[in-house]
Amino acid sequence: MDNKQIVITRFGGPDVLAIQSSALPEPQAGEVLVKVAFAGVNPIDVKTRAGLGWAAAQNKDNLPWVPGYDISGSVVKVGEGVSALQPGANVAGFIGFPLRGGGYSQYVCVPQSELSVVPDAVTLEAAAVLPLAGQTAAQALSKAEVKEGERVLILAGAGGVGHLAVQIAIAAKAEVYTTCSEGNLDYLATLGAHAINYNFEPVSQRLQDVDVLIDLVGGDAALDALKCLSDDARVVTVPTLSAELICEKAKLLGFNATGMLVDPNPQQLDTMLYMVSVGLLKTEIQHVYPLTEAAQAHIQLESGHTRGKVLLDMQC
Ligand SMILES: NC(=O)c1ccc[n+]([C@@H]2O[C@H](COP(=O)([O-])OP(=O)(O)OC[C@H]3O[C@@H](n4cnc5c(N)ncnc54)[C@H](OP(=O)(O)O)[C@@H]3O)[C@@H](O)[C@H]2O)c1
Repeated sequence: MDNKQIVITRFGGPDVLAIQSSALPEPQAGEVLVKVAFAGVNPIDVKTRAGLGWAAAQNKDNLPWVPGYDISGSVVKVGEGVSALQPGANVAGFIGFPLRGGGYSQYVCVPQSELSVVPDAVTLEAAAVLPLAGQTAAQALSKAEVKEGERVLILAGAGGVGHLAVQIAIAAKAEVYTTCSEGNLDYLATLGAHAINYNFEPVSQRLQDVDVLIDLVGGDAALDALKCLSDDARVVTVPTLSAELICEKAKLLGFNATGMLVDPNPQQLDTMLYMVSVGLLKTEIQHVYPLTEAAQAHIQLESGHTRGKVLLDMQC
């Protein structure tokens, strides 16, 4: 049996994604071999493929490189000393972050410490939505110390991180406002947010007295959103490229502002899987592409207008 993987052979457009076959890897001590059902596609995969950002800088001498940090699937073999997971268990994880990657594989060896068990009530598709995006959402809201009753503005509520951030903030009983284009207004309203069409007019013309800004867009949209904030507001800006600029401007205006880098935390993923299993969190999937169409998946993500997540089906 061979193991098909999607590799980046060199940095460039979506066409540099290639399929490579190799022998099945053997789990080492503390690792399990996972048969990957679905791999999540994240903006960092696309940026790294294009040669942008720090993950590309770190891996430039390490090509071909297998991208992918989000997986769901089932355990097929366990290495020495593994007791928490058995063959047949359904698992999900935010794996190999930031350097190893490896999620765009049909089979991958993963330290058991990076994996969560997927409850029976959660599909493997839903589980693959959560790791990187869900933890970014939870960690951004936690950094901002969002409290019950606060007015929270989340830029890009319809995206991979945004649709989960909106729901987690609503579960924390915040009053949630979010920006999106016209086609996502109804979707975000059904999640319980006040949705604002950013194409109609800048959000600063529509909203005031915001306690917390969760910025998932960066650049000019974030700079405009600073005008919506009340005195002593908190800002968490998530896109790394413009974080320094946004924080500098926010601090000049007297706000408490910070960037962030998501930190893999399997216990946090356990909590989100539980929330999905009891219906507190709904995952949205725009499209599942077969692994042979990884380039199309990247093109979709690069459009900047994906609702929820894009996944790769690694077994077809
Ligand atoms: N620092 C970290 O650790 C970290 C972790 C994860 C993600 N990130 C970064 O955070 C950002 C969001 O990630 P993601 O996975 O959520 O991306 P994504 O899924 O690709 O976001 C797509 C969404 O962005 C919305 N959007 C596009 N332009 C917008 C605008 N001007 N105003 C409001 N919404 C807009 C789109 O909604 P419409 O179609 O309605 O326009 C779409 O639903 C990315 O820059 C990513 O690189 C950073």
